[in-house]
Amino acid sequence: MSLTSPAARRDLAYHLHPTTNLRALQTEGPLVITRGEGVYVYDEEGRRYLEGMAGLWCASLGFSEQRLAEAAHRQMTVLPFYHSFSGRVPAVATLLAEALMRIAPTGMSRVLFANSGSEANDTAVKLCWYVNNALGRPLKKKIVSRQRAYHGMTIAAASLTGLAFAQTDFDLPIPRFVHTDCPHYYRGALRGESEEAYAARLADNLEQLILREGPDTVAAFFAEPVMGAGGVIVPPATYFERIQAILKKYDILFVADEVICGFGRTGNMFGTQTFNLTPDIMTVAKALSAGYLPISANLVTGGVYDILVTQSEKLGIFGHGYTYSAHPVPAAVALETLKIYEERDIVAMVRRVGPRLQAAIRSHADHPLVGDARGLGLIGAVELVRNKATNEAFDPKAGVGAFLVRRAQHHGAILRSMPGDIVAFSPPLIISDAEVDELMRCFAKALDDTWAMVKERGLA
Ligand SMILES: Cc1ncc(COP(=O)(O)O)c(C=O)c1O
Repeated sequence: MSLTSPAARRDLAYHLHPTTNLRALQTEGPLVITRGEGVYVYDEEGRRYLEGMAGLWCASLGFSEQRLAEAAHRQMTVLPFYHSFSGRVPAVATLLAEALMRIAPTGMSRVLFANSGSEANDTAVKLCWYVNNALGRPLKKKIVSRQRAYHGMTIAAASLTGLAFAQTDFDLPIPRFVHTDCPHYYRGALRGESEEAYAARLADNLEQLILREGPDTVAAFFAEPVMGAGGVIVPPATYFERIQAILKKYDILFVADEVICGFGRTGNMFGTQTFNLTPDIMTVAKALSAGYLPISANLVTGGVYDILVTQSEKLGIFGHGYTYSAHPVPAAVALETLKIYEERDIVAMVRRVGPRLQAAIRSHADHPLVGDARGLGLIGAVELVRNKATNEAFDPKAGVGAFLVRRAQHHGAILRSMPGDIVAFSPPLIISDAEVDELMRCFAKALDDTWAMVKERGLA
């Protein structure tokens, strides 16, 4: 972090940062990253950091995959831009659509491209509304998502999101967005309640909410298979099975947000497969292009697609899309990314190295600061608590999780702290055993530093 380097000065003078404490930035300065190599990034002073979050859960192939750079360059020289409106299409987008549908879970039929996870979720909301209008159900429009969900930052996506920081003072959520329970067993379960009993209680709460709102007014339910930015929350046993039964009962569309889980993160190609989900719509982004260029997509079932076709015939157009939907350059990079996933068997890689990361995370479960240690595949978290016996959290103002992340950075690893003093791990999927060990050594040192700070300040 610097206040005085030329890049830091330019940044502070001209750049308005997203998702940042702008006042703290003025006093601490930015961390200016200049290059990447494998799972590492380097700052302007040449210090190396193991990127334990793959940036924002997205740099699945690390930071120096030459094949992706070459794919982008090749496409730039052949066709740097074309669009997909009015029946036109860049050729490379047809290859990407085919490649995506080949790996998509059964039931998916067509893919609609956009540029970010937020846009994809925004699009999914519009599709749910459009479908219900097409079906003659103009009142069936409410969207249910979960507290602590993170679905992005556009107006609809931030309304789906269930985290205060994305909504407070932005006048969100907008009407028609309703939130149900977050399936966080560690925080939400009653004393002695089994995972199954907890899941049954949450499913019952969802049903009560639907009945209160009126089943004829509820269009869709959005969920990440594993919640990411809400705290890496792995659903309790039988949760999705029960939730999906309720959705079927009341004819409610299911949208799976695979923006983080998609492309191997949970140890299957999609989180949908890890948890046996049968969504009507899936949203993907991030690792679709290994994070190298912005691209996202909605995958829809044949049933949804048929409705869109019929309605567009009636209206004369399917009136949705962006200038950059299926942009050829990110499409070429995504296509190359999917080829690499197949050639290197990315799912097998995650299954091989994932258990090492999970064991290392859980090895801290007995630490006095760690209330819960969890995860699967190559995603995980520890939840820091003031009192291990009662699960009592720290005062958020104490910034305990943020302190740990600063110390981890000092020791050479980038991690992320989330509301509730939850520290997340989501490294590039190409991480090796030795790099997992290094990441977790940095974390262990940071945890000890944090424990020393907590004792010194009398926080626990
Ligand atoms: C699960 C999930 N959905 C949607 C988004 C939004 O994606 P984007 O930042 O590309 O708009 C994110 C971003 O972190 C995410 O984690």
